[in-house]
Amino acid sequence: MTRFNNNYGNSRSRLSTYEIHPTSVKMIQQGNPWVTLDEYSEKFQPNDKFIVAMSNQRQFALLLHDPQHKSVRARLWSKSGNFEKQIKSFKADFTKRVDEAFRLRKDQKLLEKRNNFYLIFGEGDNLPGLFVQYLNGEVLVQHYTHFWDKYENFVLETLMKKIRDVFNLDLYKTNIWKQMRVDGEGFKESPKCFDPNLSFKNIEIQEFGVKYKLNLGSHYDIGLYTDMASVRGKLEPHFKASESVLNLYSYSGAFSLFGLKNGAKDVVSVDLSEKYLEWLDENIKLNEDIDPKNHKSMVSSVSDAIDKLTSDKKKFDLIICDPPSSSSDGNKRTNALKEYEKSLPKIEKLLTENGKAVVFLNTHKVNRRKFQVKLHDIIKDKGLKLKTSTFYGLNEDCPSMPKFPEGSYLKGFLLEKCENPLEEIEKIQKSTGNRPQHKKKPYKKRYNKKRPVNGNR
Ligand SMILES: C[S@@+](CC[C@H](N)C(=O)[O-])C[C@H]1O[C@@H](n2cnc3c(N)ncnc32)[C@H](O)[C@@H]1O
Repeated sequence: MTRFNNNYGNSRSRLSTYEIHPTSVKMIQQGNPWVTLDEYSEKFQPNDKFIVAMSNQRQFALLLHDPQHKSVRARLWSKSGNFEKQIKSFKADFTKRVDEAFRLRKDQKLLEKRNNFYLIFGEGDNLPGLFVQYLNGEVLVQHYTHFWDKYENFVLETLMKKIRDVFNLDLYKTNIWKQMRVDGEGFKESPKCFDPNLSFKNIEIQEFGVKYKLNLGSHYDIGLYTDMASVRGKLEPHFKASESVLNLYSYSGAFSLFGLKNGAKDVVSVDLSEKYLEWLDENIKLNEDIDPKNHKSMVSSVSDAIDKLTSDKKKFDLIICDPPSSSSDGNKRTNALKEYEKSLPKIEKLLTENGKAVVFLNTHKVNRRKFQVKLHDIIKDKGLKLKTSTFYGLNEDCPSMPKFPEGSYLKGFLLEKCENPLEEIEKIQKSTGNRPQHKKKPYKKRYNKKRPVNGNR
């Protein structure tokens, strides 16, 4: 292992170069931007802000160092050019990347449809571990790495300036909130305002014409998943065509309100948490054009609720199922993917003749391909008359990288009724090569280290 500290003349610049693990070299070359904790990265000196990664004695990547992070010790900043110069121009390059990220959202004309969106989506915007949401005049800055702590004021000033330049909007410290979301640190911190006199704020946002109450400062989660907004937008035609909607794992009711707004007359929301369902009721009250009589909440585990709705002979045109990656109903812990073995046959029974379901999985540990194969296995094993069709993943304001599974945690499939599911599955297998890859080593063994995630729920 080598570490070179080069002092250049009178300049205080220092280039800290380290050999990194051959697997990390390969992964960076393939497009995965993280260097995790291993026998190489644990030798990075805590005072080094930047790491120049070496492979075969050649400098090949500039990394942002996070000596405090339990597993992701460094994140890719650049793979080419003169790294020493790039360290010196770091602030200017950061500003340029922020500008590019903001202009991308401006070009997407997001403000015409919703006033909640990501201004910066971490690695997907080449700003590793930095996530920034715009929430109707408020800005929530989320750090997934301690690296940005050292630049807190600079980041804040750059965001304020660029929001003015690109969106012509003025921001003040009372509108900017910061939250540490470093994975695995146990304590779940609520957002904190940059104005120390403000401990929390209730705000209202509008997404596709629906109003939601959000809270900044009192809870870890703010009341709405902004990364799901573009998916909701894509699902609009299915909501428009549905008279009845079942929203499983509803949280504060984003899918329920979207259904009601789009004309559904019978919407049922299921969540274990009474507090979240009360929040949902408040959201309904905010929207005067929504008739609360068209909505019913069930404070229950999804498995009990599905059984109850089945015994009541209820049917739905659209069922949304968006479970956390792993959950507990107070008695036992369940894994979302495994749970579909039990819930999918019941979901099928709850669908009207041409009913559709959208099933989500919120974990990077299972990729889109594996999720689809698992759904096909369940369809075959249980003899269901369903087929997988449209895929829904992160998009628009939430860009992801093709070779970075940790950044592509959100995935969903539309399930449609189908008379010959086996034929359909075969067609899909032929076109995608989507077969289970039993020979591939399981995820954990391939990486041989625990990798956290940006957005798992
Ligand atoms: C990922 S959030 C759902 C987000 C929501 N679909 C949205 O887009 O806003 C997961 C929700 O599932 C609820 N939950 C967790 N385990 C559950 C269970 N076994 N039965 C019912 N709800 C559960 C949690 O209280 C939480 O509100």
